[in-house]
Amino acid sequence: MTHELYRKLQFADLGDDRGKLVVAEGELDIPFRIERVFYIYGSDDTVVRGQHANRESEFVLINVSGSSKVMITDGTNKEIVELNRPMEGVYIPKMIWKEMYDFSPDSVLLVLASTHYDGSEYIRDYDRYLKEISKYNART
Ligand code: TYD
Repeated sequence: MTHELYRKLQFADLGDDRGKLVVAEGELDIPFRIERVFYIYGSDDTVVRGQHANRESEFVLINVSGSSKVMITDGTNKEIVELNRPMEGVYIPKMIWKEMYDFSPDSVLLVLASTHYDGSEYIRDYDRYLKEISKYNART
C-alpha cells in the first residue's frame, strides 16, 4: 500500500486592529499530540536542509515568516510545496523523505513534531530510505 505524502492544514487566522493571531491546537488542528517544537532561521537560498525521513516522527511545517519550499517524496511520487503563509501548515507523515530549500532571508520555518528528538529514528541515506519504504509499504 502507498501512504499519504502530505496534507495542507489551514489554521484559524484571528485578527483585529491590533494585528493577527494564528491558532494551531495539538490533536485538533494538528493531527497529533505535539511533543516538540523547533524552528529554522538564518538559512538562505543556497541551503538544502532535511534530506531525511523519520521512522517514527510526524511533522507539521509552518513558515511563520518569509517563505521556503519543501520537496516531499515516498520514492515514487514527488511533490513540491511552497510554504509562505503563517496560517497554513503542511503535515508530513512518518516514513516520507523531505528536503527544505529556497529559504527567503526572513524565513522562520516552525516545525511541530509528534516525538521528542531521537537521532536514531532518522534515515539520512536515500538508498537506505528506498529499501525501508518498500518494506514499509508492503507491511502496512
Ligand atoms: P538536522 O536534522 O540536520 O536539521 P534539518 O533536518 O533541519 O536539516 O539537525 C541539525 C542538528 O540539530 C543535528 O545535530 C541534530 C540537532 N537536532 C536536535 O538536537 N534536536 C532536534 O529536535 C532537531 C530537529 C535537531
